[in-house]
Amino acid sequence: MQSVYLRNAWYLAAWANELKPGEPFARTLLDEPVMMYRTGDGTPVALEDRCCHRSLPLSLGKIEGDRIRCGYHGLLFDAAGKCVQVPGQSLVPPGSGVRRYPAVERWRAIWLWMGEAAAADPALIPNLYWLDHPQWGAGTGQMQIKCGYQLIVDNVLDLTHLSYVHPRTFGTLAIAESPARYERVGDQVRITRWILDSKPPGVMARNRAMDGNIDRRQLITFLPPSVVTIEGWFGPTVPNRDERAEPEGGFGICNINALTPVSATETLHLFAEAQSYAPRDDAATDKLFREVYDTFLEDIEVLQAQQRALLERPNRPMIDINADAGGLEARRIMARLTAADTQRTAA
Ligand code: FES
Ligand SMILES: [Fe+2]
Repeated sequence: MQSVYLRNAWYLAAWANELKPGEPFARTLLDEPVMMYRTGDGTPVALEDRCCHRSLPLSLGKIEGDRIRCGYHGLLFDAAGKCVQVPGQSLVPPGSGVRRYPAVERWRAIWLWMGEAAAADPALIPNLYWLDHPQWGAGTGQMQIKCGYQLIVDNVLDLTHLSYVHPRTFGTLAIAESPARYERVGDQVRITRWILDSKPPGVMARNRAMDGNIDRRQLITFLPPSVVTIEGWFGPTVPNRDERAEPEGGFGICNINALTPVSATETLHLFAEAQSYAPRDDAATDKLFREVYDTFLEDIEVLQAQQRALLERPNRPMIDINADAGGLEARRIMARLTAADTQRTAA
């Protein structure tokens, strides 16, 4: 099953610590096999994972300084994907090489541009400052999920599911009952929900020893094509709170999701959890991260079962409810951006 993707965009392909010096690393993005490695000075490189000679994946080869040598007949490729040596002959067939993808390391992550290389502008990489900020401690991880990325975008944009899927960690019944405000800001969607004067969720009660009622804000941002940040704020209850004003005191957590399509029915979910209550305390960061990881395991079951049902009966109608507003807006934005992108690529 092929899918239409927004190609002229940055996709988070790996966490920086997954790309180790001297080790080729393979991943499939948007149905394209890609191999990554670091040059001698640590610069990330991304190339098509298919040798132009007889198609062995280059990720099975060996890194030699800034270059990669194919593991079959030894063709050598430079960091631009150009074939620079063919063992046993002095001439390299002109024009031989593999595709190079622009790669940038930022926010402790490796970002790849999957469209025209000339259009790759690093200024378009989503701002994920929480990953790299002294006032935040953040853990990172990933899981591969057998469902299309849009199902996960829907999932993280509609946090009413916390009440029913994650009652043990982040969910309280008050979430599904608290209305959300939806805004479109340029090509982004922002969803704000206040949950006032209600008991803290399990994860906060455990990690921050909170007892008594709190005020809580969720601020969800969809950054096309497939990054969603969920900023949580937890603090003291304030009577007649001005919901438009930035909250004071309390502390924040931020859940970062990069939903990188592998194929139409498979997604690499790279996620991070940052906290501002003990930024230098790695044990506190790890503990929160583990709870988030376990929470996502609960989502996997739901998402994969949903994808299976959609594949089995693709034409059955579905209804929309109020909580779908963010997900529907994100789909409209993506449909518009993808149509413009496809036209431009075809032109
Ligand atoms: S397949 Fe790569 S060198 Fe022959
Ligand atoms: Fe979830």
